[in-house]
Amino acid sequence: MERIQIIDAKNHVGQTVQIGAWVANKRSSGKIAFLQLRDGTAYFQGVVVKSEVPEETFQLAKNLNQETAVLITGEIREDTRSKFGYEIGIAGIEVVGESHEYPITPKEHGTDFLMDHRHLWLRSSKQHAIMQIRNELIRATYEFFNQNGFVKIDPPILTGSAPEGTTDLFETNYFDQKAYLSQSGQLYMEAAAMAFGKVFSFGPTFRAEKSKTRRHLIEFWMIEPEMAFAHQEESLEVQEQYVASLVQSVLDNCDYALHVLERDRNVLEKYTQLPFPRISYDDAIELLKKNGFEDIEWGDDFGSPHETFIANSFDRPVFILNYPKAIKPFYMKPHPTREDVVICADMIAPEGYGEIIGGSERATDYEYLLEQIKTHGLDPEEYAWYLDLRKYGSVPHAGFGLGLERTVTWLAGIEHVREAIPFPRLLNRIYP
Ligand code: 4AD
Ligand code: MG
Repeated sequence: MERIQIIDAKNHVGQTVQIGAWVANKRSSGKIAFLQLRDGTAYFQGVVVKSEVPEETFQLAKNLNQETAVLITGEIREDTRSKFGYEIGIAGIEVVGESHEYPITPKEHGTDFLMDHRHLWLRSSKQHAIMQIRNELIRATYEFFNQNGFVKIDPPILTGSAPEGTTDLFETNYFDQKAYLSQSGQLYMEAAAMAFGKVFSFGPTFRAEKSKTRRHLIEFWMIEPEMAFAHQEESLEVQEQYVASLVQSVLDNCDYALHVLERDRNVLEKYTQLPFPRISYDDAIELLKKNGFEDIEWGDDFGSPHETFIANSFDRPVFILNYPKAIKPFYMKPHPTREDVVICADMIAPEGYGEIIGGSERATDYEYLLEQIKTHGLDPEEYAWYLDLRKYGSVPHAGFGLGLERTVTWLAGIEHVREAIPFPRLLNRIYP
């Protein structure tokens, strides 16, 4: 007998198969027991009919505890009443691993309790659906960049540089030197772009941010493309095409997960329409002032109510262009005719999900960069290699970073970024 995964049930209708699974839930009456089974690939129902199985099999089914691991044998059938579409008519049950007093029951639990049990909470159907969306975004990312001629390059995680400022660095000892956990692979990706043309990275990044918001993680994963011989406008086009392709992939390949999450497909469809609107930082400030935001002045960074208001003025993700130089990192290209802004853009997701991409054209001038490095309190010696890129065939180049968890949170339509990563690292939480 063949052992199959639940996700493949559709290919085995009418066949008797074996499935290794856990009992997620169950209900029974005197004559019939329904087991909600999960094997990591999907959930479906197993049906045990008292009159069709030996009495001990029926009693076993009725008494199975939540999260008992079982080997089930039975026949796959269509089940038109469920969204999944298939079920198994159970003939035999073998207990593989017992489970007693599983802490996460179908009743409501508080967030702290669930976070303390994250190692088990991951088994729940909603968490499972979120991770399927995360997995799809990763798959679609490789597909998009491979199809568009980008080479995957891995920047280091232990570094000596601080591209995004020195305030939120994780410092560690590197033998007798100081090192930091990477905040961003960007500077290394710029070197890689000069070696390979178009490159992208995908890896963990770390920020010791004291922010306790629903958008901030201490450890998060970023996709960072970088393109040689590209100006900002070309980068914006890649960004909108990339994000639209992510949305489309989720629509194409995550129908069941979207159903579990009750995420409206019609809402997501709108986010595949290109181009995404562009608004300058200056106009965004004006827009906010005209609409009663008295707390913001030209030169301020946006807070989440500001981003949400701007996002709600459009029906799809929006780019905010050219922020004040004073609130952005050292490496951004200065504006050709204005002293006070740099050539950059943030992409703001709809529905209040905030910034999902930060990017810019990069400064190419050696002297300008050297001066910026000093102005930002960084040690030019630690950036000598980066400055070299401006000495040997410096070219216009641009790139961006997309935060994976913010994007998962948005597309899954969930409240908090902590559910978008398997084991979140938050302010005051490193367990489990
Ligand atoms: O805007 P950021 O800081 O940009 C960079 O790091 C650039 N060096 C990227 C580049 O140009 N190569 O971060 C990029 C994105 C943000 O838009 C956001 O989606 C995500 O990373 N991000 C976070 N996600 C979760 N938790 C945090 N604490 C995050 N900080 C940034
Ligand atoms: Mg940013």
